[in-house]
Amino acid sequence: MTTEPPSLLRSLDRSRSLSERAKKVLAGGVSSDARRTTGVPLYVERGLGPRFWDVDGNEYLDYVLGQGPLILGHSDPAIATAVKAQADRGQAYSAQHEREVEVAETICRLVPCAERIRFNSVGSEAVHAAWRLARAFTGRGRILKFEGHYHGWLDSALYSVHPALDLAGPPEAPVPVAGTRGQTPGGAEALVVAPWNDLDALGRIMERHEGEIAAVTLEPVLCNTGCISPVPGYLEGVRQLCREHGALLIFDEVITGFRLAPGGAQEYLGVIPDLAIFGKAVAGGYPLSVLAGRADVMDLISRGEVGHAGTFNSNPVVIEAASAALAELTRDGGAAYTRLFESGRALMDGIREAAAKAGIPVLVHGPGPVFQVYLTSEPEILDYRAFAATDLAGLQRLQRELLERGVNTIGRGLWFLSNTHGEAEISQTLAAVSEVFAGW
Ligand SMILES: Cc1ncc(COP(=O)(O)O)c(C=O)c1O
Repeated sequence: MTTEPPSLLRSLDRSRSLSERAKKVLAGGVSSDARRTTGVPLYVERGLGPRFWDVDGNEYLDYVLGQGPLILGHSDPAIATAVKAQADRGQAYSAQHEREVEVAETICRLVPCAERIRFNSVGSEAVHAAWRLARAFTGRGRILKFEGHYHGWLDSALYSVHPALDLAGPPEAPVPVAGTRGQTPGGAEALVVAPWNDLDALGRIMERHEGEIAAVTLEPVLCNTGCISPVPGYLEGVRQLCREHGALLIFDEVITGFRLAPGGAQEYLGVIPDLAIFGKAVAGGYPLSVLAGRADVMDLISRGEVGHAGTFNSNPVVIEAASAALAELTRDGGAAYTRLFESGRALMDGIREAAAKAGIPVLVHGPGPVFQVYLTSEPEILDYRAFAATDLAGLQRLQRELLERGVNTIGRGLWFLSNTHGEAEISQTLAAVSEVFAGW
């Protein structure tokens, strides 16, 4: 029998009973593996701004934010109004509509690499499209990805995200490790895996696979394994290696897109890829993803040489949400970003101070609108293997203890901010963090 620690929440009885019902009809009781939990699964009744309420009436400050999309918080009024109005005009045309062109024009204006785009619904399928396009454009078969980077749950991509170290090969030349049973046989042969933040190793790997690599794909700030920035000069070096070896450079900006800047990490870091994938924040919480890139590459799709489809692509309700979200994000000279960075900085500083006061070795790193709390005495974490050596069980405990105090965070230590998180929310959060650290 497991004993759960005492909770400061009112009760979780209704969540608990819904979870028991769910387990009989939903595999594992949830609809996505990312929602599996070791504690009591929360059933959410409603969300507003930086907060949500569960079915037992408990209130939470939210730093999960739908795993990133809710950059404008829960139920942003402008998005809600736009979506409600569209619901009366039709929910799926499977035909062209004016707002689709407008939003595409906005994205092409905001995102440096975007000369042409195509819409999809979720990040995983846009990655799939980008890789197909890269293979067709270069006439090569393999994709290079980095250990620790996540590019969705599809068979071709789900390798070496958080591999067991005894299977993962040497640090400077990792081998692809499948993420689940049942992946397409032979999938690993279409991939090459490299360590993140090691340009020499990447150069050697690309030489070893000369003429084979269609594209190098990466999260420009690695947000699925800690929150690991590229070391200075690294992305520029990767850009150069791609040119030298005739491979396309693909940024997976599903997390960083519209979160670090209106033009994503490519604007924030000043390195322009050939193709990029966006998702999550682009429609403020509605299911939209975007494949964007150079006209000469994207025109393989324009000419019908590379297939790309989807029943729900540029769904009018979702496109209305994107239109409203992008208008909010670009309003007042990007005031939303000033607030996101300021709140992020204040929260990161506060967590560092609380940890120092309690004598707990903690590293807090990230741009601010997204950041990572590591339990480690290392001064920096630069790749998956260093991340794997931090106290990951401790992070689970931190998540649980914060949740008991009404602060909802991701169990692997990644925090998302919205522009509805202000001073009051940061103070409330830091009070909870200090209390947890004081009793650590
Ligand atoms: C960087 C990155 N790429 C791709 C995906 C897959 O997106 P989706 O879950 O919408 O399929 C994710 C999801 O978290 C992601 O973080």
